[in-house]
Amino acid sequence: MSKPISLKIAGTGRALPRRVMTNKDFEQFLDTSDEWIRARTGIHERRVAGDGETTAQLGVEAGRAAMADAGCRPEDIDMIICATISPEVPFPATACFIQDGLGMKNIPAFDVSAACSGFIYGLVVAGGLIHAGLYRRVLLIGSENMTRVCDFKDRGSCILFGDGAGAAVITPANGSGSQLLHSLLHCDGSEVEMLWIPAGGARQPTSIETAQQKLHYVQMKGREVFKFAVKKMEQVIEKTLCETGVRPEQIKLLIPHQSNLRIIEFMRERMGLPKDRVYVNIDRFGNTSAASIPIALDEARRNGQIVPGDLILFLAVGAGMTWASALVRY
Ligand code: ACO
Repeated sequence: MSKPISLKIAGTGRALPRRVMTNKDFEQFLDTSDEWIRARTGIHERRVAGDGETTAQLGVEAGRAAMADAGCRPEDIDMIICATISPEVPFPATACFIQDGLGMKNIPAFDVSAACSGFIYGLVVAGGLIHAGLYRRVLLIGSENMTRVCDFKDRGSCILFGDGAGAAVITPANGSGSQLLHSLLHCDGSEVEMLWIPAGGARQPTSIETAQQKLHYVQMKGREVFKFAVKKMEQVIEKTLCETGVRPEQIKLLIPHQSNLRIIEFMRERMGLPKDRVYVNIDRFGNTSAASIPIALDEARRNGQIVPGDLILFLAVGAGMTWASALVRY
């Protein structure tokens, strides 16, 4: 069972590309409809990155907003963690580009690749390092350019994803009572092929053939991912409530990864929460993978849905297949 860790989410920020792509826009070139996408996913529109809105650049913008919110300067940050599966380049880490973009020098910067669970994985890594006394101010960013790794001819996947970035400055609690009360991180590596990009790495290096076969794009067994997500979310909800003794009504806000409104509704019903206690923005942004939780967190904070002392629960399932939860006393 995980132990409580004293930490504080000292500031948050987000960055969204300017261009909005609606479901109707897909109707122009794909055998799909606004009605189908809304009914099956809850998505109405998503943001699509344009020139100057790469994974690192969106991460820089979100990171800057989070630092301003936390009232700290770039020189106060002593580590950058970027959660992403649509990195700036295969290597080095997107966090390195973000470090440079923020004008920082010498501090450690690395990526976490846990897909949609990436922000929660990063939060636990940051929390553990802060708890150990090794680092004091971690800039944790989830940033994605998912539309650049999607096949816009594959109606089963491209309609789901969007681009964006969210960020948080994580610090010691400093007597505020803020805590990472409980967390669960999981992975079942036997299911990698449920949701992946098969080529472009050491296993299948880039070639004309891999490009022709579109193996550099997201490949997803949507129905299987859906069933997997529902099963794993049910397990982590049960385990979190059982191990902490927290009752659902004590949770001020559930911030789930925004993958599909039907999956979010399942979690809400499983916890018996009213609609206003579950954060939903999938209608506006689609699935932004590792960026979805920090974008939602930033929106919820800035519109007053969370105040210090509130309990918030983060839940996510992603490629890997990974799944994770984090219960935070904000
Ligand atoms: N428009 C119209 N019809 C479509 C579309 C579309 N965009 N996509 C699929 N269909 C069709 C299918 O071809 C199928 O037709 P058929 O019955 O004639 O064969 C029919 O709709 C039903 O297809 P399903 O795949 O069973 O549809 P489902 O209800 O499962 O919805 C979806 C598909 C939306 C992809 C759903 O399975 C889902 O959301 N799965 C989870 C995906 C997910 O969350 N992935 C991200 C994980 S996070 C990460 O790590 C990045």
